[in-house]
Amino acid sequence: MNSVSDFDQVRQAFMTDVITGLHQAQKTIPCKWFYDETGSALFEDITKTPEYYPTRVETALLGSITPALSEIIPNLGAIIEPGSGASIKTRLLLETQPNLTTYLPIDISAEFLNTTAERLRLDFPDIDIWPMVGDFSTTFLPDQIGADIEKLVFFPGSTIGNFNPDEALGLLRNFHALAGQRGWLLIGVDTTQDADQLHAAYNDKAGITARFNKNLLVRANRELDADFDLTQFRHDARYNPSESRIEMHLVSACEQQVTIDDERFDFVAGESIFTESCHKYARDRFLAMAATSGWQLEQLWQDPVESGFTLMLFRSR
Ligand code: SAH
Ligand code: AVI
Repeated sequence: MNSVSDFDQVRQAFMTDVITGLHQAQKTIPCKWFYDETGSALFEDITKTPEYYPTRVETALLGSITPALSEIIPNLGAIIEPGSGASIKTRLLLETQPNLTTYLPIDISAEFLNTTAERLRLDFPDIDIWPMVGDFSTTFLPDQIGADIEKLVFFPGSTIGNFNPDEALGLLRNFHALAGQRGWLLIGVDTTQDADQLHAAYNDKAGITARFNKNLLVRANRELDADFDLTQFRHDARYNPSESRIEMHLVSACEQQVTIDDERFDFVAGESIFTESCHKYARDRFLAMAATSGWQLEQLWQDPVESGFTLMLFRSR
């Protein structure tokens, strides 16, 4: 898990992904590279915009179900959270689940994760906080927690939507192995299909999502010695109804060249770098994916007011 925590290794992995991605016909950079310290902070800012409903809605839902959770899983001992970010929603669980002893947040954004872990240690002195820096999609997750402890994999935020359906299936299977027998999965899935609402959520008026997207280029300039001209790329987030997903792009405003590590990449005007997919799975489709991956639905709670955001609780089969 520490394999990508070292700066040189992270830089090399970032370089490889950028160079490989920019050689493709549809230029692309994987969305996990959004999250340097600035990117993590910008994501938190996005969650506070009025248009970005997922965080607001999911936090309210989670707050309302914590008593039910402690009834369904009275002996919950450990929470493992891939892509934990600021762990704000998790606090609702740490505050309310009576037999919790361990919290294992996993995130690619090292500084942000470690700062968050320090704060949690101060606020929850009776819970062991074990932050792990790494890519939860490629790295084997060690079983640090005893087999006798009841575990919940907590994967909120609709982060599952940032993976294509095949990758999402693989993740659900890995989480199943990680949770073990008598294990649980609490996952946030955004089933919203309203094109206007989705478009607004990823094109906030304050322009924070645009800054988050462009921060990828800022990071490449700083860490890879690239020379992206930030004034010549614009943020674009489009809803693709046939794939049921938002697609984020950085669009070149003109014909231009960019140099990275002595390699030149040509852009024509209007050409884009595909930076993120946010899949909005229909509920039954997602339930079928989870069932294929060994998960049995225990209960689900859907936002009744603003969106199709749904929290789903599964137990391992
Ligand atoms: N769970 C939080 C944060 C979601 S934002 C919430 O629901 O609000 C997504 C988080 O996942 C970010 O903190 C980002 O750094 C992390 N992340 C994204 N891709 C990752 C990957 N492949 N491996 C590890 N962490 C990743
Ligand atoms: C982290 N992830 C679930 C967010 C999403 O909505 O897909 C990332 C994000 N991208 C733009 N805005 C928010």
